[in-house]
Order: sequence, then structure tokens, then C-alpha cells
Amino acid sequence: MITLKLNGQEQQLDVTEDMPLLWAIRDVAGYTGTKFGCGMGLCGACTVHLDGVAIRSCVTPIGTVAGKDVSTIDKLDQDPVGKLVQAAWLDTGVAQCGYCQGGQVMSATALLKSNPNPTDQQIEEAMIGNICRCGTYNRIKTAIRQAATQLKEAQ
Ligand code: FES
Ligand code: FES
Repeated sequence: MITLKLNGQEQQLDVTEDMPLLWAIRDVAGYTGTKFGCGMGLCGACTVHLDGVAIRSCVTPIGTVAGKDVSTIDKLDQDPVGKLVQAAWLDTGVAQCGYCQGGQVMSATALLKSNPNPTDQQIEEAMIGNICRCGTYNRIKTAIRQAATQLKEAQ
């Protein structure tokens, strides 16, 4: 049994310690917003926040996050920065097929929470591990810049 805080609520999950966090999130806890892409830490589709930092849940054994705070795209609208990022994504019309977008939004939100006013280079560095087969990269950057501007205005 592993205990962790998942999307703001303490959860006890009946899983083995080596189960990938992604499996536990989707198949045991039932939060299916986080997607499986490569399963090898290479695409970013499975990105979640661990204590506020973007990580790849497909290569993270759940035993290593016991007692920690994990959040997923499913409840990101409850986070003020996450809500703003999602609104900027919609305004900019970023998504095409959408499969990678949950991971993209999670990485963008983690970036803006740690650095509310990133340079273009910092945006590129933060997002480099999130692959989009539909090629939405330019709109992703536009949405992140828009969210950063709105964050500044809100302060
Ligand atoms: S599914 Fe985790 S990085 Fe691709
Ligand atoms: S929107 Fe289709 S893979 Fe990114």
C-alpha cells in the first residue's frame, strides 16, 4: 500500500512499489488525463507535477513518491497558474489532435510557477522534452508568453 497526496487529496493505493506512477494514476486512481506515449521518458505525454516540479510519470516508480504531493492535468484548473495557462492555450488554439497537450500544459505550468517571466530560451529549455507530432510548437510558445503576460498583469 502506497500513500501519497494526489490532486490535493491523500490517497492510499494498493500497488507494488515498482509500479510506474503513470499506471497508478490512470488505472488505480482513475485520473486518465495523463497520457501514455513512449513509456521511456522521451516524449513528455505523461508529465505530472511532483511537489510542483514537472516529472515523467512513466519512468517514476510509485514507491519513490510515497508521502509526496503529485498533481495531474485532471485538476489543474484548481491551480491559479494552471487555470491561466489552460485559458491561454484555448485563446491561442494550440491543440490539434490533443494527445500531447496535457503534458505540454503541465510542463508550461511548472515553468511559470518557478519562473513567471521566462525568456524565449528558458521556454525552449523547459519545453524541449515535450514532443508534439502535430507540430504545435510555435503556438505553445505563444500561449506561454500570453500566460506570462497575464501573470504579470495580475500581480
Ligand atoms: S510516456 Fe512518459 S515520457 Fe513518453
Ligand atoms: S497536438 Fe497532436 S501530438 Fe501534439
